[in-house]
Amino acid sequence: MPKPMILRALRSKAFQLALQTTIISGLGAVIISAVIYYAAETTIKGQLDSAVKSEQAEIMSDSSGTEADIEASIHDELNDSSGLFYALLGPSGKLLVGNVDVSGALIKKLNVYKTLTVRNGLNLPAHVSAIRGMAIKLDNGDVLYIAEKANELMALNEFYSYSFLILVGGILVIGMAGGFFAARSALRRVEAITSASQEIMAGNLARRIDEDGSGDEFDRLIISLNMMLDRIQVLMQNVQQVSNDISHDLRSPLARLRDSLEDSKLMTPDPATGACFDEAIEQVDSVLGIFSAMLRLAEIETQSMRTHFLSVDMAPLVEDMGETFKVVAAADHKIIHTQVEAPLCVTGDRELLEQMLVNVIENAILYSPPGKDIVIRAWLNTAGGVAIEIADRGPGIPVSEHKRVLQRFVRLDASRHNPGTGLGLALVAAIADLHGAAISFADNHPGLRVLFQFPTTNTAIRDTTCKA
Ligand SMILES: Nc1ncnc2c1ncn2[C@@H]1O[C@H](COP(=O)(O)OP(=O)(O)O)[C@@H](O)[C@H]1O
Ligand SMILES: [Mg+2]
Repeated sequence: MPKPMILRALRSKAFQLALQTTIISGLGAVIISAVIYYAAETTIKGQLDSAVKSEQAEIMSDSSGTEADIEASIHDELNDSSGLFYALLGPSGKLLVGNVDVSGALIKKLNVYKTLTVRNGLNLPAHVSAIRGMAIKLDNGDVLYIAEKANELMALNEFYSYSFLILVGGILVIGMAGGFFAARSALRRVEAITSASQEIMAGNLARRIDEDGSGDEFDRLIISLNMMLDRIQVLMQNVQQVSNDISHDLRSPLARLRDSLEDSKLMTPDPATGACFDEAIEQVDSVLGIFSAMLRLAEIETQSMRTHFLSVDMAPLVEDMGETFKVVAAADHKIIHTQVEAPLCVTGDRELLEQMLVNVIENAILYSPPGKDIVIRAWLNTAGGVAIEIADRGPGIPVSEHKRVLQRFVRLDASRHNPGTGLGLALVAAIADLHGAAISFADNHPGLRVLFQFPTTNTAIRDTTCKA
C-alpha cells in the first residue's frame, strides 16, 4: 500500500535538505542573538558600574574615612534621593546605615560588580526589579556597598528570552513548512516520472511523461526522457520489423530446402546418407518452428486478434487436452490427472488458448521425471474468474527466474539437454496477456505450478453466452 503523501514528503531528500538548512539558519540566528545580547549587556553593565564607581569615589573623598563620617555622607546622599542604593555594614555584618539591607550572604565577594534581585532575598522597592553594585572593605573593617538600579538588565533578559523563543520557533516552523511544501511539489514531479516509467516497463511503450510547462529542471529532464523514449520506441519497432521480415522472408527458401532434402533422401539408396538427410530435415523443421513461433508472437503482440474474440468454455477444452496428453505422458511413464469444474467461460481465441495450455503441459511432461503425477485443474475462483493450474513434480523454476523464463529464447541451464527453443513460455505470456489473464509460478514442493487467472469481465465480449 503506498504511504500517505505527508509521510513520503517528510522522508524525501528535499525535506531533509530544507530541515538541514533550517537547523543551520536557526543556529546562525542563535549565535547572532547571543552576540547582540552580549554587546548590549556589556554596555549596560559598563554604564551602571561606572556610576557606582564614581559614587564610591565621591563618598570616600567627601569623608575622612571614619565610620561616622561615612555614615554622615550616606545620610546626605539618602536625603538627596540620588536613586542609588547604599549599605554600610559593621564588621559583624550588621547594617549600620543605608536603604538596602545586603547583610548576610548576599555580598560575599568584595570588589566585584554583581547584579542582585529579590530572588537573592533582597527587599527592594516595587519599581526596582534589580540592582547592580559592588562592596568594598574600609580600613576600619566596615563594608561599604553601593549599587545602581538595574531594571534595564532585567528588561534586556526578558526581551531576549521572548524574542529568542519567537525567533528560533519562527525559523523552525517557517523552515519546516517551506521544506514540506517544496518536498511535496518535488515529490509530485518525481512520482509522475515513476508512474510513467512503471507503465512503460509494463509494456506501454507509447506512454510519455507529462510536463507542466514551467520549464524548470524537472521539465527539462522530462523533455529529455520523452525524447529518449521516442528513440527507444523507434529502435524497438525497427528490431521487431527486421526480425519479422527475416522470419517471413526466410520461410519460403527454407521450405524449398526442406523439399529438396526430402527429394534427395528418397533418391539415395544408402541408409547412412538417408539418416544424414533425416537429421538435416529435423534441423530445418526446428528453424521453421522458431520462425513460425516468432511470427505468431509478433501477430499476437499487435493485439489485433481481440476483435475476433468469442466466448469459449474452458472446461471441455481443458478436459480434451488432458485426455490427449495422457497418451503422450504415458509413453514417458508420467500420469496426468485432470480436475475440471464446468462451465468455465472466458472470452478469447480458442486456438490460441489451446496453444497456451499445450506449451505449458508439454513443459510439464518434458521436465518432470518418469513415474510422477501431473495435475491439471480448472475452476471458478472466488472473484468469479476462471483459474487453470498445471502442476508437475519436476525441478521447478527458481523464484529469481520466474520473470525471465517468460522472455524469448530464455532456457534455464538445467534444461539445456532437453529439446526446445525457449519460445514456448514467451508465447504463453503473450497469449495470456492478450486475454488479460495473469500468469504466475509457484513451488509445488517439489515441482512447478503454473497458474492462469482470467479476469471476471472482459470488455471485448462479442458473444456473452458460453458455448459448450
Ligand atoms: N515445468 C517446468 N519445470 C521446470 N522448468 C521449466 C518448466 N517449464 C519451463 N521450464 C524452464 O523454462 C525454460 C523456458 O521454457 P520454454 O519457454 O517452454 O522453452 P523450452 O521448453 O523450449 O526450453 C525452459 O527451458 C526450462 O528451463
Ligand atoms: Mg517449452
